[in-house]
Amino acid sequence: MEIKIFETEEALANYAADLFEETILRKPDCVLGLATGASPEPTYAELVRRYTQGRISFAQVTTFNLDEYCGLPRDDKNSYYSFMQAHLFSHIDIPADHIHIENGNAEDYEEEAKAYDAQILASGGIDLQLLGIGTNGHIGFNEPADAFTEHTFRIKLSDSTIAANSRYFTDSKIPEYALTMGVAGIMMAKKIVLIATGSKKAQAIKDTASGPISPRCPASVLRLHRDAVLLLDREAASLL
Ligand code: GLP
Repeated sequence: MEIKIFETEEALANYAADLFEETILRKPDCVLGLATGASPEPTYAELVRRYTQGRISFAQVTTFNLDEYCGLPRDDKNSYYSFMQAHLFSHIDIPADHIHIENGNAEDYEEEAKAYDAQILASGGIDLQLLGIGTNGHIGFNEPADAFTEHTFRIKLSDSTIAANSRYFTDSKIPEYALTMGVAGIMMAKKIVLIATGSKKAQAIKDTASGPISPRCPASVLRLHRDAVLLLDREAASLL
């Protein structure tokens, strides 16, 4: 696993956007795995800028998002569907039917999860997977556990994730469950890029980079991937 440390948020976002640009130019019909949260926001802004400048097109790109809350209306301002529309999809030329996000309101979550994994498989698999990291080391919504998770499934969010993400839910209650791609599913991506910024992520990054490879810190599994890179600012890297 490679680690790169950047002096500015802009330099980090530019580097991450370069990885996307290279992938799209090399393979215009590539499959991208996308993440939500504050960490990827500057990268999405940079991708929108590059699209607007005519450097890249998403016309043939397919996307799969990592996760979605359960029981939140799709158009709720806190759904990951709304996040992706606001930060990326509504600004680029990706066809609506190329966008995939788990349906957090599915009647049968198991069926939904199975169908989601089947769609990823049918697409040929994810070429480039973007990740953030939770303060507890989670990736997607794969919380610390006794065993690594496998495929897409419904998870009960941990208290620490509920506490960390509650900041967005100013006038509603944060859902307790989410659908998330599993760790094994994430590891099937050909390339993985994880973005972490700020001192709140420093311990999780230390555990990821130098703790035991353990489901107690799900991101630590990335050390077993043949092409994973952590993009960090100074604060997130401060305990390395
Ligand atoms: C949520 C998402 C994760 C994300 C994490 C960190 O829990 N499910 O995919 O990595 O938040 O978010 P932030 O980048 O806002 O700290």
